[in-house]
Amino acid sequence: MLALSERVGRTELAATFAMAAKARALRAAGHEVISLSLGEPDFPTPEHVIEAGFAAARRGETKYPPLGGIEPLRVAVAENFARAHGVNINPANVLVTNGGKQAIFNVVMALAQHGDEVIIPAPSWAGYEQTVKFAGAEPVFAPCAQADGFVLRPEVLESAISSRTRLLILNYPNNPSGAAMDEAALRALAGVLRHYPHVAVLSDDIYEHLLFDGRKHVTLLGVAPDLADRVVTMSGVSKTYAMTGWRIGWCFGPAELMKACTVVQATATSGVSSVGQAAALAALTGPQDLLAGRAAAYQARRDIVVAALNQAPFLLCHKPDGAFYVFPDISGCLGKTTQAGRKLATDEDFALALLEEAHVGVVQGAAFAMSPHIRISTAAAPAVLQQACARIAEFCAALR
Ligand SMILES: Cc1ncc(COP(=O)(O)O)c(C=O)c1O
Repeated sequence: MLALSERVGRTELAATFAMAAKARALRAAGHEVISLSLGEPDFPTPEHVIEAGFAAARRGETKYPPLGGIEPLRVAVAENFARAHGVNINPANVLVTNGGKQAIFNVVMALAQHGDEVIIPAPSWAGYEQTVKFAGAEPVFAPCAQADGFVLRPEVLESAISSRTRLLILNYPNNPSGAAMDEAALRALAGVLRHYPHVAVLSDDIYEHLLFDGRKHVTLLGVAPDLADRVVTMSGVSKTYAMTGWRIGWCFGPAELMKACTVVQATATSGVSSVGQAAALAALTGPQDLLAGRAAAYQARRDIVVAALNQAPFLLCHKPDGAFYVFPDISGCLGKTTQAGRKLATDEDFALALLEEAHVGVVQGAAFAMSPHIRISTAAAPAVLQQACARIAEFCAALR
């Protein structure tokens, strides 16, 4: 038996992967499963982006790429941010990463270690908790209730901060709740942060272009540029341009921290796929009109799912401001028994029973540090979502 590192023992694969694998197994066994467990756009990567990746390979851009990313992509990231938020970024402080996920890994590994705390507003994407634990630090969840619109309140932030806090992670629009921040709410958080100069902030803006009802993305650095010496912002092309497989993300922040992040990345993977970077550059600098169309499509899907779930017995579904998830409260279902005789004690019981009895794959709220909820991805065709919601409603109606 191999002796594995203690570090690996602290971390486990996200429940989203486990639920997706279970859905695949049921499908292989001949069941017609609707899997809404993964956070992946169902749209294709735009054609001109694919062409740009192909052209780069044909041009011979197939050698080791520069460690921090190709210059034009770093410039494009900086220019886009300046245009959107009025804050100038030095392209030398932009680091291109293997997907948004590596940006988060770099930052957490560069800042946090044993004895440190990292504040994660809950509900949250499971990747943060895993990365923080992998780094040997301690996740501290700051609860963001459904009644507060799943948004971090300043007093909740303040009570979560200790002398050991190294980092706060913000993610709006949020996975899994779809909640977004408005400028006033973000300014209130900045007000708290000004009293605690030992706390760095990672702003995960990966869903920045998926906002509904005319909302505009606001980000911490945009409303509080005076905090620039301790705010790092990350994003990527995965969700915005339906490029999850290309694995291109980035982060930018204070020079010293970005140097440390570069060391982490150099240790793990070095530079990022050259064809992927060429494709990402085309995505950022090419036509942007598809973004509004896709956001509108996700908004229409949200409306279908929220309306359908709120008609289902025992479910309480909020209305997300962005991203492509809904995160209904399922507390009304707990303590009940399914048609097949399963007793539902937790949201994990609910998600498993829903998959096995109604053949709809979702993920339990426990995987996002908030129970009892389920996360449903709305990145599927409207007809598929309607069918999934009908199955969920039928499943709930049969609970006794
Ligand atoms: C909130 C959040 N941050 C980061 C990521 C990672 O994105 P990428 O696929 O670019 O690594 C995800 C992906 O699910 C996410 O939901």
